Parts: sequence; C-alpha cells; structure tokens
Amino acid sequence: MAYINENYLKLPGNYLFAEVARRVAAFRSEHPDAEIIRLGIGDVTLPLPAVSIEAMHAAVDEMAKKETFRGYGPEQGYDFLIDAIIERNYASHGLKVERDEVFVSDGSKSDCGNIQEIFSSDAVVAITDPVYPVYLDTNVMAGRTGALGADGRFEGVVYLPSTEENGFAPALPDRPVDMIYLCCPNNPTGTTLSRAELAKWVAYARENDAVILFDAAYAAYITEPDVPRSIYELDGARDVAIEFRSFSKTAGFTGTRCGYTVIPKSVTAKAKDGSRHPLNALWSRRHSTKFNGTAYIVQRGAAAIYTDEGQKQVAANIAYYMENARIIREGLSALGLSVFGGVNAPYIWLKTPKGMPSWTFFDKLLREANVVGTPGAGFGPCGEGYFRLTAFGGREDTEKAVARIREKLHV
Ligand code: MLT
Repeated sequence: MAYINENYLKLPGNYLFAEVARRVAAFRSEHPDAEIIRLGIGDVTLPLPAVSIEAMHAAVDEMAKKETFRGYGPEQGYDFLIDAIIERNYASHGLKVERDEVFVSDGSKSDCGNIQEIFSSDAVVAITDPVYPVYLDTNVMAGRTGALGADGRFEGVVYLPSTEENGFAPALPDRPVDMIYLCCPNNPTGTTLSRAELAKWVAYARENDAVILFDAAYAAYITEPDVPRSIYELDGARDVAIEFRSFSKTAGFTGTRCGYTVIPKSVTAKAKDGSRHPLNALWSRRHSTKFNGTAYIVQRGAAAIYTDEGQKQVAANIAYYMENARIIREGLSALGLSVFGGVNAPYIWLKTPKGMPSWTFFDKLLREANVVGTPGAGFGPCGEGYFRLTAFGGREDTEKAVARIREKLHV
C-alpha cells in the first residue's frame, strides 16, 4: 500500500502564481478581446543579452563536434563559470569565496526550495511575513510545520512581520529558531535591509547557532550604497549564512534556468550527538546525488555576462526595468496610493485603496483596467491589504498599465 506524504494536504490548493494564472485564464475566456497587461509574476520580458546568445550558439557548435562534445559535466558547475562568479561578485568586492563553495544549479528557486533537506526535520523555521512562498511551502511539504490555522499561519513556524510600521525590517524572533530565511532585496515588498539591520541578523545567528538562508536573487537591482549586495559583506556571516543568487532576474534567464548557491565551508550545524558538520559537505552530497549539472550551453551563456561587454548589456537591461519601476512608483504615488519598493528592486508594493482585501483588488484591477498583479495576501497574512506589481513588463505595457489604473480604476 502506497501512502501519500500528508504534509502536502496542509498546503492551500494552488501555488500562488498558479492561482493567479487560473483567475486570469477564467477572465480571458469570458472576455476574449480584453487586452490584458501582465505585471503579476516577476517574469522578464527583454531577450537574453547578446553576449549570452553568442556564447550559447558557440556552445551548441561545440556540442555538434566529436572533439568538443560534452556529456555529463561537473555536478557543481564548470570552473569557467564558478571562477567568473567568484571574480565579479565576490573577489572584486573584497569578499573571499572558494571554488568548492559555489554550487551552480538550474535556478535559485530550486535551491531555496531544496536547501531545507539538509536540516533536521524538527528544525524551527523563521520566515518573514509577507514572504516568497517557496521557503514556506517546501518546509510544509517536509513536515516542519503543523496545520494551517484560521489566521493564515502554519503552526510551528516563527513568522517575522515585515510591515509598513517596522519599515519592512522585521524584529528578531522572540523564541529560538534554527533556519532563518531572509530575502534582500525583498520579494514581494521590493524593500531592503540596511547594513546595520543585516548585521543584527548575523549577530543573532551567531549567538543562537542558527543558519541564515539569504536569498539575493535581486542583488543586481540595488542602487543605494547602504544595502549590502551579499550577506558576506557582514563580518561573521561566513560562519552562519548560505547565499542564493540567480541569473533569472539579473540576465533574463527565467526560461533558460541558471542560478547558484554559496555555502562557505565554515558554516556548520550540529548532529543530535553534538558533533558539528559543514553544511557545504552535506549540500555537495545532495547536489551530486540528485543533480547532474546545469546544461553546458546554459553555463556558457551565464558566464558570458561576466565579460566587460556582458556587464554593460546586463546593466542596460536592469536600467530598463528600473525605469519601469520608477514609472509605476511615481505614477501610483501621484494617484495618492501608498507605494513601497521599486528603488533597489523590480517590485512595487502598494497599499490597496480603502483597505480593500488583496484578492478583491486583484479582481477589480483585472476587470476594470485589465491589469494583472499579485495579491499581497498570497505572500502571507501581513500582505493582506497590499498588492505587488512587477517592473519586468515592456515599457509600453508598463506605461499603459499606469495610465489605465489612473483612468479606469474606480475606487
Ligand atoms: C515572483 O514573481 O515572485 C518570482 O518570479 C517567482 C520566482 O522567481 O520564482
């Protein structure tokens, strides 16, 4: 008799973006002529940088010849990509990261979701609220939580409210926790933690023998000097933090898939007998057992962004999206809406007018302006009454969306 993993039954029916897609499809079937603008899921719209395309074409040609064909690659990633990552993102900023501390993967969503496997099944998880749903859902699936309560919170999880009132800088947990998920720049709020705020978390993790799981997928969007690009800019973080990075939002790889995780060998955690073990070795074991490496062609495309020309092309794409962010932020502020984020991140977090519930606002915006966003409540109870728009749309769509919100939305 095969029994199911009943932890899955604790989860609400659909993954957030699947539910958004379902509602949009239902609207489209009723209104086939509506010109829908999608600023919901944070999916890029600009094509891959030209350097990546060239590098991938060349890699395809290599695959076509017996002499240069490649089969299985190193599970952890090719050195040409790992070296480029270390040089551009760490060494050139004075940060030490070694080759065997970088794990290339098929994207940081997979890594953020899978990392929990190397922790004990009774580890206490702390997440910010609102939060990128992957951190929470994967821990629910793994059985680290109880049931979902009427308050929208899973039993056993330590929620860290991240709200307008605390400037989106959550307070430290009021009870011991083991795994702390932080996302900076933040998805969904588009806000950031300052160096001083992050230093508090590193100190907390060191004092409480906790591990910080730091999602820096949006690091390339930071414009302000006081926001660390990497958690390793903080003293002591190499002992307590794992960092996730992505090529998706940096270089348009949402469909191409490539990301990486950094696990310094100095990050350790305890076994029940009290012995300490490097998490790097555990993740390496997991990675090489469950993953056969990111495609060579894709890794060539990713490495190309670290050339001087690649850096210029990526910067131009990011500037394009951040101009969209400015258009949304300023356009909605001019309408009197309270708007957050969009300065160091491609997400704009707005307070729904008249305290409208997030999903009500979602339906209203779709119906009246034919614009799709993401309801804040989908990211956690503290997201109720908020709404997220992404800056990843095309320029024309972004301008049109703001104009439609101004002209057609009746609140
Ligand atoms: C989002 O819209 O929150 C992201 O695109 C989801 C993701 O990166 O997986």
